[in-house]
Parts: sequence; structure tokens; C-alpha cells
Amino acid sequence: MKASKGRNVVVVGTQWGDEGKGKLVDWLTETADGVVRFQGGHNAGHTLVISGVKTALHLIPSGIMRPGVKCYIGNGVVLSVSKLLEEIAGLEKAGVEVKSRLRISEACPLILPFHVALDVAREVAREQGIGEKIGTTGRGIGPAYEDKIARRALRVQDLKYPERFATKLADLLDLHNHVLTSYLKTESLALGESLAKYVKNGQVMFDAVYSEAMAQAEILRPMMADVSRELNEAHANGANLLFEGAQGTLLDVDHGTYPFVTSSNCVAGNASAGAGVGPGMLHYVLGITKAYCTRVGGGPFPTELDWQQPGTPGYHMSTVGAEKGVTTGRSRRCGWFDAALLKRSAQVNGLSGLCITKLDVLDGLTELQLCTGYRLDGEAVDLLPMGADDISRCVPIYEVLPGWTESTVGVTNYDQLPVNAKRYLERIERVVGVPIAMVSTSPDRDHTIVLQQPFSA
Ligand code: GDP
Ligand code: IMO
Ligand code: MG
Repeated sequence: MKASKGRNVVVVGTQWGDEGKGKLVDWLTETADGVVRFQGGHNAGHTLVISGVKTALHLIPSGIMRPGVKCYIGNGVVLSVSKLLEEIAGLEKAGVEVKSRLRISEACPLILPFHVALDVAREVAREQGIGEKIGTTGRGIGPAYEDKIARRALRVQDLKYPERFATKLADLLDLHNHVLTSYLKTESLALGESLAKYVKNGQVMFDAVYSEAMAQAEILRPMMADVSRELNEAHANGANLLFEGAQGTLLDVDHGTYPFVTSSNCVAGNASAGAGVGPGMLHYVLGITKAYCTRVGGGPFPTELDWQQPGTPGYHMSTVGAEKGVTTGRSRRCGWFDAALLKRSAQVNGLSGLCITKLDVLDGLTELQLCTGYRLDGEAVDLLPMGADDISRCVPIYEVLPGWTESTVGVTNYDQLPVNAKRYLERIERVVGVPIAMVSTSPDRDHTIVLQQPFSA
């Protein structure tokens, strides 16, 4: 299928993240000129497998493995410069040219060591009884977004002006060190190895943060850009752009299982605000959807199975699907496909098409259960309710479908899928009400079935 020019596609996760966005973004980049991250930070972990070689990306858009494709980090991303430079160095070591192709918005808020300290210390406090632990990635994401919304964040552009940077940093440390020591009692907490060089007596030290940031500023400077302007110009020149979502719709700060969510909007609409392009520039929204469900961290998960008991479907998903987080290495919780959750996702994203991933993981299960709705306080509901409290009371209503014994690994033609795999996919399509555009049958870039190429739809 040939793609047309001047088309822009948004890729979003439709569940709780780790749906396989990285693989699909990399695949789609064959027909894209630029890939844009618009939210989140290095809490993301996107895996690309190209001819058997695995690459994990956290901040750099998943277009970087295609020579010539430009990569953009939009204003909606919270940026740890240290982690970005580490990731660039890793890719360069593997022979991938990054710096000439990466453009970073000057408006990105920075993630600094005190954000990480706050994130870690708050999770400890929650564990000790002040609220319930969220199970964050401990990367400082939430505290960095808080500073942005409170209008006091240090942004990429501040790195160009040492005095301005120093003044704002001193003010921020004044506030955050007070919270760290007086409220979170960090003097007696182990905040972890990675923070050791910045922290003394529970406080983050100005000099350590400032001198590191100033050294990094020089490396970052040539990549700093007005990303909004560059994207609008690329579009005017007929470029195909791909907007790469991180996390997933149920982790969205408004539409997800609040408060067990991340601190950004992960839905497709935020591609516009988080990159600085008008919503009319977004032509197609592809929802990446695992053929079952997984979740890392805390929070309700109506179709969750026992995934630790050998011999059970949940254990099958966990082991065959190798369900371990790319960022933190934590095991992902596993459960049946939830079509009522997907309907919520389709609604808040305006999905044009679905890409079902990891179909191959279900090979060999004798029967599959598909959640089509719930009983909530005795009443039947067909759409995931809003927020963790109601969601945690949902009892799933399942439809049972037959499984298949044949292997689907590596299948690239829809007609070659087992009859029962097609029945499963077609049932999902019907209940969710969104057409299936693509199906993924292994981690490898090439093992992808295309029914509708999003760039030419
Ligand atoms: P992302 O965060 O959405 O990019 O997804 P992750 O990379 O965190 O997790 C998805 C995992 O599933 C990765 O290990 C991928 O290599 C793998 N994966 C992606 N698509 C498929 C597929 O169709 N089949 C199998 N077996 N694995 C897949
Ligand atoms: P990708 O892009 C899965 C989860 C964390 C935690 C919650 C809040 O790879 O799909 P945060 O550190 O963001 O404040 O943590 O969100 N989380 C993810 N889960 N995939 C991700 O990204 C995630 N990014 C954050 O586990 O439950
Ligand atoms: Mg991931």
C-alpha cells in the first residue's frame, strides 16, 4: 500500500501502556519523515526489534532507527537532560547517528534531581500510610509536571542563561528542600544510589545540580529548537509526521484510573498541545491494543488474572508475553482483554483504527475470555467508569471464545491466521466498534499484518 504525502498519524496506547507502541511507530516510520514525542518523559520504555536486534528507547522517538527520519521532542514532554544524553550515547555507541536528527523544544520543562527525590520520598510516605502507593517509575515525572502547572518550572530555554537558571534553581530548591526535609523527612530515608551525589542531609544541593546542568547545556544547545515552528513548516512542505504517544489512555491524568495514573494527558488530543500543532493537522489516530491486558504499578484492573500461578492463562500471558517492564524491570500484571475499557479509550481518543499486538502470545490457550461490560453495584454497565473508586468495584461480564492451537508467530497475511484467531479479532472489532487496521504477530518489525495503512487511509 502506498502512502500519500502531507498526512499525519497519532499513535496512542489504549490500555495501561506497553501495548507495543514502539514497535508500531518504528514500522510506520517507513512512511514518515518525522516522529514526535508530545507527552511523558523517560518513564516510557519503547522496544524495537529490527532483524533480531533489540533497542529500548525512553525519551528519543521511535523513528531514530530509520536513517534520515527526523525526531522531535515536543513541549509536552518533561525532559531529564542527563537521561537524554545517556540515551544518545548508547545509540551512538551502536552506530546510530542521533544529534543531527534530534530537535528538542525549548519549552520542555526540565526534570532535575529534586523531582526524583520528591517522587521517591512520596512513594515511601504513601507506603507508610499517607495514601496508597501509586507504584510510579520513580523518575520524577509527577513532581516535574507539578512545577510546570504551578508556573515555576525550569525549562530547556533557561539552560541558555546561567544567571536566570541559577536564580530560578535557588527558588525551587528553597521550596522543595523544605518539603523534602520537613514533610517527607528525607534525612532518615534512603533515596537510592542515583541521587547520592546530589543529596546531603536529605537536601538536594545547589552546586551539584547547577554545575551539571551548565555542562549539559553546551551539549544540548545545538538540538534546542522551536519545534512547533519546525513541525508546521515540515507539514507545509508535505512531510508525513507521526506523533508517538507514551503510556496509555488508562494512565491519562484525566481519563485514566485516577489517581493511579501518570501526570500527563496521554490521549490523542494532546498531540496537538504537546507539540504545538493545530488539531486539524492530526488526520488518523491509531490505537495500539494488546490482545490481552497488562498493567505495571498499583491501581484497579477489572480483568486481572492470577499471573503467578503456573498452568493458568495469566501465567501463560506473563511468561509467553515476557511481561516485564522496560523501564523498571517490574513484572506486569496480566488479564483478559477488556472491550468495555477499549470503548472508553476509543471514545476519548477518537480512534480511527486499532492495531492489535501480541496476538501470538495467546497461541495455545484453549479458550479466551472477553470482557464486554461489568456489574457495578448490581447494575450492568458497558463502558469503563471514570476513576479508580468506581473501577475497583466493577465485576467483569465475560464472553467465552474458543482459542487456537496453531502458531501465529510471524504471520504477515490476515488470511493465514487460524480461524479462531480471526473470530477473536472480529469479535473485538464488533464490540469496540473500531476497525482493526493492523495486527502484530511478534516483536520483530517485519511481523506485522496491514489491513489499512494509516498514512494512506
Ligand atoms: P510500548 O511501551 O508500548 O512501546 O511497549 P513495550 O516495548 O514496553 O512492551 C511491548 C513488548 O512486547 C516489547 O517487549 C515488544 O518487543 C513486545 N512486542 C511488541 N509487539 C509484539 C507482538 O506482536 N508479539 C510479541 N510476542 N511481542 C511483541
Ligand atoms: P510506556 O510508554 C506502563 C505507570 C507506572 C505507574 C504510573 C505512574 O512504556 O507505555 P509515573 O512514573 O509516570 O508517575 O508512574 O504510570 N507508567 C507506565 N506503565 N508503561 C509506561 O510507559 C508507563 N509510564 C508510566 O508504572 O503505575
Ligand atoms: Mg513500554
